[in-house]
Amino acid sequence: MSNNTETMVAPIISARGLKKHYQRGIETIKALDGVSLDIRAGEMVSILGPSGSGKTTLINLLSCLDAPDAGELLIAGRSVSGLVEEELVNVRQGVLGFVFQKFHLLPTLTVAENVELPLMFLRRAVDREKTLEILRQVDLENRAGHLPKELSGGQMQRVAIARALITDSKVLIADEPTGNLDKANGEAVFALFRRLVSEKNLAVIVTTHNLALGGLADRIITLEDGLVIDEHLRQ
Ligand SMILES: Nc1ncnc2c1ncn2[C@@H]1O[C@H](COP(=O)(O)OP(=O)(O)OP(=O)(O)O)[C@@H](O)[C@H]1O
Ligand SMILES: [Mg+2]
Repeated sequence: MSNNTETMVAPIISARGLKKHYQRGIETIKALDGVSLDIRAGEMVSILGPSGSGKTTLINLLSCLDAPDAGELLIAGRSVSGLVEEELVNVRQGVLGFVFQKFHLLPTLTVAENVELPLMFLRRAVDREKTLEILRQVDLENRAGHLPKELSGGQMQRVAIARALITDSKVLIADEPTGNLDKANGEAVFALFRRLVSEKNLAVIVTTHNLALGGLADRIITLEDGLVIDEHLRQ
Protein backbone atom coordinates (compact mmCIF):
# COMPACT_ATOMS: atom_id res chain seq x y z
CA MET A 1 0.00 0.00 0.00
CA SER A 2 1.33 3.45 -0.87
CA ASN A 3 1.72 6.10 1.78
CA ASN A 4 -1.00 8.08 0.13
CA THR A 5 -3.52 5.28 0.38
CA GLU A 6 -2.60 4.67 3.99
CA THR A 7 -3.26 8.31 4.81
CA MET A 8 -6.66 8.14 3.17
CA VAL A 9 -7.85 5.20 5.21
CA ALA A 10 -6.17 6.17 8.48
CA PRO A 11 -8.67 6.74 11.29
CA ILE A 12 -9.25 10.34 12.42
CA ILE A 13 -9.80 9.10 15.94
CA SER A 14 -8.11 5.98 17.24
CA ALA A 15 -8.61 4.87 20.83
CA ARG A 16 -7.01 1.88 22.53
CA GLY A 17 -7.89 0.55 25.95
CA LEU A 18 -9.38 3.76 27.32
CA LYS A 19 -10.11 3.57 31.04
CA LYS A 20 -11.65 6.05 33.41
CA HIS A 21 -12.24 5.02 37.01
CA TYR A 22 -13.73 7.14 39.77
CA GLN A 23 -13.06 6.50 43.43
CA ARG A 24 -15.95 7.17 45.77
CA GLY A 25 -14.98 6.16 49.29
CA ILE A 26 -14.05 2.50 49.08
CA GLU A 27 -16.05 2.03 45.89
CA THR A 28 -14.37 2.21 42.47
CA ILE A 29 -16.72 3.20 39.66
CA LYS A 30 -15.41 1.84 36.39
CA ALA A 31 -17.05 4.46 34.16
CA LEU A 32 -14.95 3.19 31.28
CA ASP A 33 -12.97 -0.01 31.59
CA GLY A 34 -10.93 -0.52 28.44
CA VAL A 35 -12.62 0.71 25.27
CA SER A 36 -10.99 0.67 21.84
CA LEU A 37 -12.40 2.12 18.65
CA ASP A 38 -11.44 3.75 15.37
CA ILE A 39 -13.46 6.41 13.58
CA ARG A 40 -12.84 7.13 9.91
CA ALA A 41 -13.96 9.87 7.55
CA GLY A 42 -17.28 9.11 5.91
CA GLU A 43 -18.77 7.02 8.69
CA MET A 44 -21.40 7.64 11.29
CA VAL A 45 -21.02 5.72 14.52
CA SER A 46 -23.65 5.61 17.23
CA ILE A 47 -23.00 4.74 20.84
CA LEU A 48 -25.86 3.13 22.68
CA GLY A 49 -26.18 1.77 26.19
CA PRO A 50 -28.17 2.19 29.39
CA SER A 51 -27.84 5.21 31.67
CA GLY A 52 -24.50 5.05 33.47
CA SER A 53 -22.90 2.70 30.92
CA GLY A 54 -20.12 5.20 30.12
CA LYS A 55 -21.31 6.95 26.94
CA THR A 56 -20.64 10.49 28.14
CA THR A 57 -17.38 9.43 29.74
CA LEU A 58 -16.24 7.99 26.40
CA ILE A 59 -17.39 11.06 24.46
CA ASN A 60 -15.56 13.36 26.89
CA LEU A 61 -12.34 11.36 26.45
CA LEU A 62 -12.62 11.29 22.63
CA SER A 63 -13.27 15.06 22.76
CA CYS A 64 -10.12 15.55 24.89
CA LEU A 65 -12.30 17.33 27.44
CA ASP A 66 -11.16 14.78 29.99
CA ALA A 67 -8.03 12.61 30.22
CA PRO A 68 -8.12 8.80 30.52
CA ASP A 69 -6.52 6.98 33.46
CA ALA A 70 -5.13 4.44 31.01
CA GLY A 71 -5.11 3.81 27.27
CA GLU A 72 -4.06 5.71 24.23
CA LEU A 73 -5.88 8.21 22.07
CA LEU A 74 -4.74 9.45 18.67
CA ILE A 75 -6.48 12.42 17.05
CA ALA A 76 -5.55 12.86 13.39
CA GLY A 77 -2.60 10.57 14.02
CA ARG A 78 -1.33 12.56 16.99
CA SER A 79 -1.13 11.11 20.49
CA VAL A 80 -2.85 13.40 22.97
CA SER A 81 -1.53 11.90 26.18
CA GLY A 82 0.45 14.36 28.22
CA LEU A 83 -0.55 17.37 26.13
CA VAL A 84 -1.42 20.56 28.01
CA GLU A 85 -4.65 22.47 27.30
CA GLU A 86 -3.02 24.87 24.81
CA GLU A 87 -1.69 21.96 22.75
CA LEU A 88 -5.05 20.18 22.96
CA VAL A 89 -6.75 23.27 21.52
CA ASN A 90 -4.43 22.93 18.52
CA VAL A 91 -5.18 19.23 18.15
CA ARG A 92 -8.95 19.82 18.31
CA GLN A 93 -8.98 22.82 16.01
CA GLY A 94 -10.03 21.92 12.50
CA VAL A 95 -10.64 18.32 13.52
CA LEU A 96 -13.24 18.02 16.28
CA GLY A 97 -16.60 19.79 16.46
CA PHE A 98 -18.97 19.39 19.41
CA VAL A 99 -22.74 19.26 19.59
CA PHE A 100 -24.46 19.25 22.98
CA GLN A 101 -27.84 18.06 24.21
CA LYS A 102 -28.81 21.54 25.37
CA PHE A 103 -27.56 23.45 22.29
CA HIS A 104 -25.71 26.11 24.37
CA LEU A 105 -26.56 29.00 22.07
CA LEU A 106 -26.01 32.53 23.40
CA PRO A 107 -29.47 34.15 23.60
CA THR A 108 -28.37 37.71 22.73
CA LEU A 109 -26.47 36.72 19.57
CA THR A 110 -28.09 36.09 16.21
CA VAL A 111 -27.98 32.70 14.55
CA ALA A 112 -25.07 33.79 12.32
CA GLU A 113 -23.16 35.25 15.29
CA ASN A 114 -23.69 32.07 17.30
CA VAL A 115 -22.28 30.02 14.43
CA GLU A 116 -19.26 32.35 14.22
CA LEU A 117 -18.51 32.25 17.95
CA PRO A 118 -15.77 29.56 17.78
CA LEU A 119 -13.90 31.75 15.27
CA MET A 120 -13.83 34.58 17.82
CA PHE A 121 -12.38 32.26 20.48
CA LEU A 122 -9.75 31.05 18.02
CA ARG A 123 -9.09 34.65 16.87
CA ARG A 124 -9.84 33.63 13.31
CA ALA A 125 -11.38 35.90 10.71
CA VAL A 126 -15.13 35.81 10.24
CA ASP A 127 -16.36 35.28 6.69
CA ARG A 128 -20.12 35.91 6.59
CA GLU A 129 -20.42 34.26 3.18
CA LYS A 130 -18.99 31.06 4.62
CA THR A 131 -21.32 31.31 7.61
CA LEU A 132 -24.30 31.58 5.26
CA GLU A 133 -23.05 28.64 3.20
CA ILE A 134 -22.86 26.49 6.33
CA LEU A 135 -26.30 27.69 7.42
CA ARG A 136 -27.51 26.61 3.99
CA GLN A 137 -26.06 23.14 4.58
CA VAL A 138 -28.21 22.85 7.72
CA ASP A 139 -31.26 24.36 5.95
CA LEU A 140 -31.25 27.58 7.97
CA GLU A 141 -30.02 30.16 5.48
CA ASN A 142 -33.20 32.19 6.00
CA ARG A 143 -32.70 32.38 9.78
CA ALA A 144 -29.25 34.04 9.92
CA GLY A 145 -30.53 37.25 11.56
CA HIS A 146 -32.90 35.57 14.02
CA LEU A 147 -32.32 35.21 17.74
CA PRO A 148 -32.28 31.69 19.26
CA LYS A 149 -35.59 32.33 21.08
CA GLU A 150 -37.26 32.72 17.69
CA LEU A 151 -36.29 29.17 16.68
CA SER A 152 -37.71 25.73 17.36
CA GLY A 153 -35.62 23.24 19.32
CA GLY A 154 -34.75 21.35 16.15
CA GLN A 155 -33.63 24.56 14.47
CA MET A 156 -31.53 25.49 17.53
CA GLN A 157 -29.77 22.15 17.34
CA ARG A 158 -29.07 22.69 13.64
CA VAL A 159 -27.51 26.07 14.52
CA ALA A 160 -25.33 24.23 17.04
CA ILE A 161 -24.32 21.78 14.29
CA ALA A 162 -23.45 24.71 12.00
CA ARG A 163 -21.36 26.17 14.83
CA ALA A 164 -19.48 22.86 15.09
CA LEU A 165 -18.82 22.96 11.31
CA ILE A 166 -17.55 26.54 11.04
CA THR A 167 -14.02 25.57 12.12
CA ASP A 168 -13.82 22.99 9.28
CA SER A 169 -14.21 20.09 11.69
CA LYS A 170 -13.66 16.60 10.28
CA VAL A 171 -15.52 14.84 13.10
CA LEU A 172 -18.73 15.84 14.80
CA ILE A 173 -18.98 14.52 18.34
CA ALA A 174 -22.48 14.69 19.76
CA ASP A 175 -23.62 13.56 23.20
CA GLU A 176 -27.38 12.93 23.09
CA PRO A 177 -28.03 15.73 20.59
CA THR A 178 -31.66 14.65 20.30
CA GLY A 179 -32.27 14.30 24.05
CA ASN A 180 -34.21 17.58 24.17
CA LEU A 181 -36.01 17.12 20.85
CA ASP A 182 -39.28 15.52 19.84
CA LYS A 183 -39.33 12.54 17.48
CA ALA A 184 -39.55 14.49 14.22
CA ASN A 185 -36.78 16.93 15.14
CA GLY A 186 -34.61 14.09 16.43
CA GLU A 187 -35.02 12.30 13.12
CA ALA A 188 -34.19 15.51 11.25
CA VAL A 189 -30.93 15.89 13.21
CA PHE A 190 -29.91 12.30 12.41
CA ALA A 191 -30.86 12.79 8.76
CA LEU A 192 -28.66 15.90 8.71
CA PHE A 193 -25.76 13.92 10.20
CA ARG A 194 -26.22 11.30 7.48
CA ARG A 195 -26.19 13.98 4.79
CA LEU A 196 -23.04 15.63 6.21
CA VAL A 197 -21.30 12.25 6.31
CA SER A 198 -22.08 11.50 2.68
CA GLU A 199 -21.76 15.02 1.21
CA LYS A 200 -18.79 16.34 3.20
CA ASN A 201 -17.13 13.04 4.06
CA LEU A 202 -17.35 13.92 7.75
CA ALA A 203 -17.23 11.43 10.57
CA VAL A 204 -19.97 11.57 13.20
CA ILE A 205 -19.95 9.99 16.65
CA VAL A 206 -23.26 10.27 18.38
CA THR A 207 -24.70 8.89 21.61
CA THR A 208 -28.38 8.25 22.01
CA HIS A 209 -30.90 6.35 24.10
CA ASN A 210 -33.07 5.96 21.04
CA LEU A 211 -32.47 2.55 19.43
CA ALA A 212 -34.25 3.48 16.22
CA LEU A 213 -32.14 6.63 15.73
CA GLY A 214 -28.95 4.87 16.78
CA GLY A 215 -29.72 2.18 14.22
CA LEU A 216 -29.42 4.75 11.43
CA ALA A 217 -25.64 4.94 11.91
CA ASP A 218 -23.21 2.90 9.81
CA ARG A 219 -21.84 1.25 12.93
CA ILE A 220 -23.62 0.74 16.22
CA ILE A 221 -21.58 0.28 19.39
CA THR A 222 -23.27 -0.70 22.65
CA LEU A 223 -21.69 -0.02 26.03
CA GLU A 224 -22.51 -1.61 29.34
CA ASP A 225 -20.66 -1.04 32.61
CA GLY A 226 -17.86 0.76 30.80
CA LEU A 227 -17.25 -1.98 28.22
CA VAL A 228 -18.23 -2.51 24.59
CA ILE A 229 -20.70 -5.41 24.70
CA ASP A 230 -21.77 -5.26 21.07
CA GLU A 231 -20.58 -3.69 17.83
CA HIS A 232 -22.27 -4.23 14.49
CA LEU A 233 -22.81 -2.64 11.12
CA ARG A 234 -26.17 -1.28 10.03
CA GLN A 235 -28.35 -3.99 8.55
N1 LIG B 1 -17.16 12.77 37.92
C1 LIG B 1 -17.62 11.59 38.29
N2 LIG B 1 -17.41 11.11 39.52
C2 LIG B 1 -17.86 9.89 39.88
N3 LIG B 1 -18.55 9.07 39.07
C3 LIG B 1 -18.78 9.49 37.83
C4 LIG B 1 -18.35 10.76 37.36
N4 LIG B 1 -18.74 10.90 36.07
C5 LIG B 1 -19.40 9.78 35.75
N5 LIG B 1 -19.43 8.93 36.81
C6 LIG B 1 -20.04 7.59 36.83
O1 LIG B 1 -19.54 6.86 35.72
C7 LIG B 1 -20.56 6.04 35.16
C8 LIG B 1 -20.72 6.38 33.67
O2 LIG B 1 -21.28 7.67 33.55
P1 LIG B 1 -21.65 8.34 32.15
O3 LIG B 1 -22.08 9.73 32.43
O4 LIG B 1 -20.51 8.13 31.23
O5 LIG B 1 -22.88 7.43 31.69
P2 LIG B 1 -23.84 7.60 30.42
O6 LIG B 1 -23.80 6.30 29.68
O7 LIG B 1 -23.50 8.83 29.68
O8 LIG B 1 -25.27 7.75 31.11
P3 LIG B 1 -26.55 8.61 30.60
O9 LIG B 1 -27.21 7.75 29.56
O10 LIG B 1 -27.40 8.70 31.84
O11 LIG B 1 -26.10 9.93 30.12
C9 LIG B 1 -21.81 6.29 35.99
O12 LIG B 1 -21.92 5.28 36.94
C10 LIG B 1 -21.54 7.64 36.64
O13 LIG B 1 -22.22 7.73 37.87
MG1 LIG C 1 -24.54 10.60 29.23
